[in-house]
Amino acid sequence: MAHSIELPATANKQEFYRELALQLSGLLTGERDAIANAANTAALLYHALPDVNWVGFYFLNEGELVLGPFQGRPACVRIAIGKGVCGTAAQARRSVVVPDVHAFPGHIACDTASRSELVVPIIADGALVGVLDLDSPSAGRFDEDDRAGCENLAAIYLAASEVSA
Ligand code: SME
Repeated sequence: MAHSIELPATANKQEFYRELALQLSGLLTGERDAIANAANTAALLYHALPDVNWVGFYFLNEGELVLGPFQGRPACVRIAIGKGVCGTAAQARRSVVVPDVHAFPGHIACDTASRSELVVPIIADGALVGVLDLDSPSAGRFDEDDRAGCENLAAIYLAASEVSA
């Protein structure tokens, strides 16, 4: 896709995520604002990761997930805890990888182009803050390396930012 970067032929995915983590740390250094940092995190991931059509945040607000900074097509604004992939990850407090969203009961279709999805919960001091959501137009786009890599990126975002749980 036009916004993806080329990976060096020798680089594996773990190396790619290590490099991306360094880029994110640098990008967020010196700034604590949670919204500004979420916006830049979404932008960096959207442009750096190949084959994604949506990257963004939902934040917990009065008991439901509310849309935060993102890159991609306009998305649904409110998601109840336990609903969709985002609400499921938020409720379970663990990352959810969905290889085929059409096969996930209750999937919330925001962009009809989305075929697979990865949602990482953001948890500060034991309290759910929100989720980082990534969508791809390709089935099976996200694997364990993506999960681990994006969990680390979410942790970098959290450590850099002044979040209120
Ligand atoms: N598909 C998500 C909703 C958010 S969009 O993908 C941006 C879900 O089922 O929770």
